Amino acid sequence: MQIKNLKMDISAVSAQQYPTDNLAEIALLGRSNVGKSSLINTLVQRKKFARTSSTPGKTQTLNFYQVNEAFYLVDVPGYGYARVSKQQRAQFGQMIEEYLTTRSVLQGVIILVDGRHEPTADDVSMYQFVRYYQLPALIVATKMDKVKKNQWNKTVQTVTNTLNLNSTDQLQLFSALNKSGQSEVWHWISTRINN
Ligand code: GTP
Ligand code: MG
Repeated sequence: MQIKNLKMDISAVSAQQYPTDNLAEIALLGRSNVGKSSLINTLVQRKKFARTSSTPGKTQTLNFYQVNEAFYLVDVPGYGYARVSKQQRAQFGQMIEEYLTTRSVLQGVIILVDGRHEPTADDVSMYQFVRYYQLPALIVATKMDKVKKNQWNKTVQTVTNTLNLNSTDQLQLFSALNKSGQSEVWHWISTRINN
């Protein structure tokens, strides 16, 4: 996709703060530090559009990034981050749940998992939640630059089996470092927002 226009539009912690322009939205979900913000930067070909960090818990609000005045990529705080307080974790959970269950312009979600490891119990719960609400989902196994090519099939098998992936949900291997899988992710987003 050609990026003609980018705008960091809105940070929201509750529904009253979501954008009101009725554009389609695609949300990025995944554990803290898995690479959600990095995936956004790779897609829009900018190094520091979405803020990233090697310290988990960087993204703490729903961040709406407007692309080409046509749709939003929504960066969501990571789940499963042990070092935030219990109360803060509950607030994050509530904020994410409210967004996912009430947002009518949401056209699909991208769930990121770490391609180096088996998906965690949190990843499985997130995927089941998304299935329950029948949101179209793309699973992205990221950090694949750290996985040898001859292990890629194993990653596909492990992620498919552990998440018990529905046959209608696509799995894409990805790396923000060398941009592999970038065009496939864009293709999926395009089909969702042009529906
Ligand atoms: P939170 O905002 O805390 O939820 O994290 P996040 O999911 O947005 O992760 P972020 O994009 O900030 O990336 C976390 C760390 O992983 C950073 O140090 C990134 O440089 C690194 N990272 C992200 N994607 C990749 C990748 O594809 N390959 C490698 N090798 N590192 C990556
Ligand atoms: Mg982030």
